Amino acid sequence: MSDSATLDLIHAHGSVRRYKPDPLPASLVETIVAAGQRASTSSNKQTYSIIATADEEKRLALMEIAGGQIQVQQAPLFLTFCADRTRLDKVCELRGYKQDFSTLESFLIAAVDAALVAQNIALAAESLGLGICYIGAIRNNTAAVIELLKLPKGVFPITGMTIGYPLHPPRIRPRLPQEAILHWESYNPNQDEALLAYDQEMIETGIYKNRQVPVAGKEGEMEAYGWMEHTARRVSAPSRQNLRAEVEKQGFELK
Ligand SMILES: Cc1cc2nc3c(=O)[nH]c(=O)nc-3n(C[C@H](O)[C@H](O)[C@H](O)COP(=O)(O)O)c2cc1C
Repeated sequence: MSDSATLDLIHAHGSVRRYKPDPLPASLVETIVAAGQRASTSSNKQTYSIIATADEEKRLALMEIAGGQIQVQQAPLFLTFCADRTRLDKVCELRGYKQDFSTLESFLIAAVDAALVAQNIALAAESLGLGICYIGAIRNNTAAVIELLKLPKGVFPITGMTIGYPLHPPRIRPRLPQEAILHWESYNPNQDEALLAYDQEMIETGIYKNRQVPVAGKEGEMEAYGWMEHTARRVSAPSRQNLRAEVEKQGFELK
């Protein structure tokens, strides 16, 4: 416990992947979205939109898109955070201009805006006893998301989020030591010690269920499977390689 209820809330975060079926009243959704909208937004442009999905059939379709993650069907609410250029296309039209949204910069601005509103919503939801889990896996098939949610050209899904009442309190995953991520004055590339310490800490949580892997270069020897092995496996293969084409098809040129 700290002296700050906000800090306590932030430190109590853990992704929730099992939910009670209780629906969320629209007024509650509006409350957390209003808090989401308080997030900073580049030049107050607010180039994002949020699609709220409560309909069970649509949640089932989203679950399939997200690789069968059961939480997507189970959670009573699914939010899809989108980069949205269409509103400012309209603003420009109404004022006699033409929006130039052709650069990577403009897409990044919209994507960052979408991420910031999402995280504010996450904290607002958690402050009211709800649980959340981001669902990046909607990017497995953005074309299917676009069709399902009827996203017009100029609107692209960045990430999803499940929201609902947690079935169990979430597990708190340790984070990297600050030596690895906070660099005072200039970048410090010497992170091996911090990484090894974190790997050990993650192994001790039991998250990896005490899996073992062979020690590189030492035949017959085994070592614990930890965060480093888990993460290295995940990042050593390319993922979602058609994304640039999908983003371009949806009206973002990324020049
Ligand atoms: C953009 C983004 C996408 C994510 N996508 C998924 C997902 O598709 N499925 C899932 O179970 N968790 C997903 N997560 C949750 C992360 O796995 C989780 O935040 C991370 O493992 C740290 O755990 P914690 O949130 O419990 O602290 C995602 C998180 C982020 C930020």
